[in-house]
Amino acid sequence: MSIEGADVDNKAVRIVEVGPRDGLQNEKQPVATQTKLELIERLVQAGLRVVEATSFVSPKWVPQMADHGDIMQRLPLQPGVAYSVLTPNLKGFEAAVAAGAKEVAVFAAASETFSQRNINCSVAESIARFRPVFDAARREGVRVRGYVSCVVGCPYEGPIAPERVADVSAQLYELGSYEVSLGDTIGVGTPASIVRMLDAVARRVPVRHLAGHYHDTYGMAIANVHASYEFGLRSFDSSVSGLGGCPYAKGASGNVATEDVVYLLHGLGAQTGIDLDLLVDTSAWVSAALGREPGSKLTRAMLARRAMHTEAGR
Ligand code: HMG
Ligand code: MG
Repeated sequence: MSIEGADVDNKAVRIVEVGPRDGLQNEKQPVATQTKLELIERLVQAGLRVVEATSFVSPKWVPQMADHGDIMQRLPLQPGVAYSVLTPNLKGFEAAVAAGAKEVAVFAAASETFSQRNINCSVAESIARFRPVFDAARREGVRVRGYVSCVVGCPYEGPIAPERVADVSAQLYELGSYEVSLGDTIGVGTPASIVRMLDAVARRVPVRHLAGHYHDTYGMAIANVHASYEFGLRSFDSSVSGLGGCPYAKGASGNVATEDVVYLLHGLGAQTGIDLDLLVDTSAWVSAALGREPGSKLTRAMLARRAMHTEAGR
């Protein structure tokens, strides 16, 4: 094996469901707390074991996540299920821990301009803000995940050099992130540019500590998951029904749909522990709750097939 930390024979894949956070943070209409909680409950029933539930950011910046306290209080607790929340600074971390969080995620970027627009500080300042978060997390026994945004391209700066991604990833890893999630925030990556980026990052962070977080703006996200899986990654972020978008990346669409990732991975013989039928139900349910068609072709096809069978059985 040539890439440090990669175990390409390992068939177990961890899926981090980010729909309740990344999927809903950009919704224009308020989404009821009860709807978010029912979504989380259904995801857990479908077999998701890691769910990013909400974020402790400024409600002035991201009003959709302002109900984070209520969400945390009413999360369906189940052994083996971990909930993570975004925390941009110590204030967010302290609020999250007071609300019961056992896992948080800090988020940096490989682009200076995106960092300014997203969290109002430079990349170096963001790392300085995270340092006390990691210290406090260590004291409190809280796990920290690190995100890097704009790993291939930035909505303001254009293409991003893989070395810049590797640099920020290494800093987050050295601070104590158990995993660094690599965000193609605006979904411009292709398997070739994603693998170039992974090659650079894997020189600084072992592959087993990397996750792929791919948005689907250009329709390449599932191909990028496949290429990353072949590269050796065994952790992927996705959003049921492909919900989402980033409020500070105009025009960027949602994450790769969880059901598409599960279908791809099961087709490759990988194990996710997720029940695809229940996931499709959840995708259909949340799409109806938000008043739109499911964002995943797979879900639309499975629903059409079910309808045909029901019709034929009459
Ligand atoms: P700031 O204005 O620079 O912060 O915002 P500040 O420290 O100067 O404080 C200003 C005000 O915000 C104060 O309140 C603070 O108390 C408050 P005021 O005195 O004006 O009433 N404040 C907070 N309130 C609640 N929670 C906090 C917090 N911190 C300060 N944690 C800040 C800095 C980071 C807070 C702001 O820029 C922010 O909230 N940004 C939102 C970032 C965000 O949520 N972006 C979307 C998620 S990232 C993403 O989607 C990408 C990802 O999916 C990966 C990918 O796809 O690439 C992860
Ligand atoms: Mg994202």
